[in-house]
This record gives sequence, structure tokens and C-alpha cells, in this order.
Amino acid sequence: MANPSILILAGDGIGPEVMEEVKKIIRWLDARRGIAFDLGEDLVGGCSYDAHGTPLTDAAMARAQEADAVLLGAVGGPKYDALDFSVKPERGLLRLRKEMDLFANLRPAQCFDALADFSSLKRDVVAGLDIMIVRELTSGVYFGEPRGIFTEGNERVGINTQRYTEGEIARVARSAFDLARKRGNRVCSMEKANVMESGVLWRQVVQEVHDREYPDVELSHMYADAGAMQLTRWPKQFDVIVTDNLFGDLLSDLAAMLTGSLGMLPSASLGAPMANGRPKALYEPVHGSAPDIAGQGKANPIACILSFAMALRYSFDLGDEASRIERAVEKVLADGLRTADLMGPEGGTPVSTGAMGDAIIAAMDASL
Ligand code: IPM
Ligand code: MG
Repeated sequence: MANPSILILAGDGIGPEVMEEVKKIIRWLDARRGIAFDLGEDLVGGCSYDAHGTPLTDAAMARAQEADAVLLGAVGGPKYDALDFSVKPERGLLRLRKEMDLFANLRPAQCFDALADFSSLKRDVVAGLDIMIVRELTSGVYFGEPRGIFTEGNERVGINTQRYTEGEIARVARSAFDLARKRGNRVCSMEKANVMESGVLWRQVVQEVHDREYPDVELSHMYADAGAMQLTRWPKQFDVIVTDNLFGDLLSDLAAMLTGSLGMLPSASLGAPMANGRPKALYEPVHGSAPDIAGQGKANPIACILSFAMALRYSFDLGDEASRIERAVEKVLADGLRTADLMGPEGGTPVSTGAMGDAIIAAMDASL
């Protein structure tokens, strides 16, 4: 049988250097665990625009559709700020999400004990935090029509449309309930049903799916603004949060910062099962391309490495190997190793991107 396939789209900025550390782990799995993948690589974002005049070629899109999982680094950079909207690096990522129909974006916010003092919130508020934001990723105001900048009378008007079908809400709600059953069995759904019709429908459909299919899961509803407030007040009250595309974008950045560093957080974007039973899937760190530190060995590879761990768990049924990686990350942090983004007042041993990856591999070796 052919090995499962992974398409690597390292992208721009720090994307390629953090992905280098993931490749070390992929080689380690092959050498030490006999787990082999067929790896392919292609371009996405600004580097693809530079080479082909588009942030994602049709050929790369087709390869992504065929892969068992896609690993993405990061896209974008100031160099591309002036480009037309249609060819901006971000459009490459949005096209992947939309055409692969990756409707459920899983964004865990987990606070590693060694980093609890790093958060801008007090230690007891964040220590042990382990929540999961499920963000709807293929609809809502990101994709709704009409959109554009139009002229009305003698002035311009910018328009975007928030639009959700019942089916779109129900399927992401199911993803959240399924996940909750494997965790703390609680879901909090967030919208603005007090202001938006799409929010009223969101609340109704989530409740209906719950009552019909998941009565065993504890469900609550919150307005998204109150949710943001509660996330900073006492985040440990949450287990799984399910929300729409735009609120999920905001709330997941907020949740990320609770854990101390954006450089730590992975994500998985999942769609419907393919013929082989695996979900369509793309894994990427939550952080961006950080062009200001690119190429200097300063980037934290942990978010990208943990994203690969999510791939092992959700695409390849290798939860044990995923846990091994997660424990290795915990170990090196407890040992005081710190990339530049993690250097706080309490100090630690400064390490480069590559040295952090090597230390994680050494910890994995020690776990055998
Ligand atoms: C994210 C990012 C993207 C988004 C951008 C890069 C298009 O902020 O993944 O959260 O807005 O979805
Ligand atoms: Mg975002």
C-alpha cells in the first residue's frame, strides 16, 4: 500500500524555517518509528505570486485536493501590501480553505505550565488552561455576496455580507459536539443573536442539532462580545467554543494570547471525509509570517510542530505519536529552552529555531 501523502506549503516569511523543523520530525518518524509519508512540496502566498503571478496555482490547488493532508507554514509580508486584493498572499490560503471546503477550524488554546507566567493575565487564571475554539471557516462575512467597493451617488460604499445557511451551521456544530464528547463534554456557542439575523439562526440551529443528536453534551449560548469578556475574565469556564468565521478569527487570537505566545498555537482545518475515510485537512500554525524576524533563526517552530502533531492525530490515527511530540514540547519548555518570543523576565536558555527543533527530537528519542 502506498504511504499516506502530505503536501507541504511552507509559504512566506518564517514559514519555510519553522517547516524545516517539522521535516526533521517527519524524518525521525521514518527512521525511528517506521512511519513513512510521501512528501510533496509546492508554493503558496507571496512566493507563489513571485514565481507564477498568483498566490496559488491551479496545479498546487489540485495537489492539495489529492493529498491526505496539507501542512501550511505562513503567508504574506509587507512586500505584497500594495498588490491587488485578488492576488494578495492571503487569497491563496482562502482559496485552499474554500475549495477544499474546510469548514471546521480547530484552534486549541492550551497553556503550558512552564509558560504560565508569560501570559498577560495572572498565573492562576491561565495555568492548566485547555480550551478548543471551533471556528466556521468557509462561509459568513469572509465569503458572502454581495461584496465590494461600489459608488452610490457621489460617495463610495464598502460592502460585505454575513450569510449562513442552516446546513453550514449544523455541520460545524456537529464538529464541535463530536470534539466535546472526547474532551470535557461542554460546548458554548457564540454569536450576536441580539443584533444579527444570522446570529438568531445560528443559535436556533445549534440548539436544534444539540437537542436532536447530542442531548448528552452540555450546551450554552453567549453573545460574542460577552464571550470575549468572559474569555479574559475566567477562560477555564470553557471547554469547546463554536462560533462563526469572523468572531472565530477574533476570539482565537484573543485566546491565543492567554497562553502567552502566538508562537505556540497550532490549528487544524477539517472538511468532509474523503473516499479513504480521512477528512480533507489542512494544518497550520495560528501565527503569521513574521517577516521582521524571517531568516534569522529567531522563529518559534513549536506552533508548526504541534500542527503536525494534530495532523498525526486527526488525519492519520497516530494519536500516540502526536502525544509523544506534545510531551517532548512540554519537556523542552520545562527544561527552560526559549526561542526569542518566549524570553521573558524570568529568563531561560535562549535557543534558535533549529536548536529548539533538535531539542524536541532529543526529547522524543529519550521517550523510546
Ligand atoms: C487567520 C488569519 C487569516 C484569517 C488571514 C491571514 C486571511 O488571520 O487564519 O486567523 O483572517 O482567517
Ligand atoms: Mg486571524
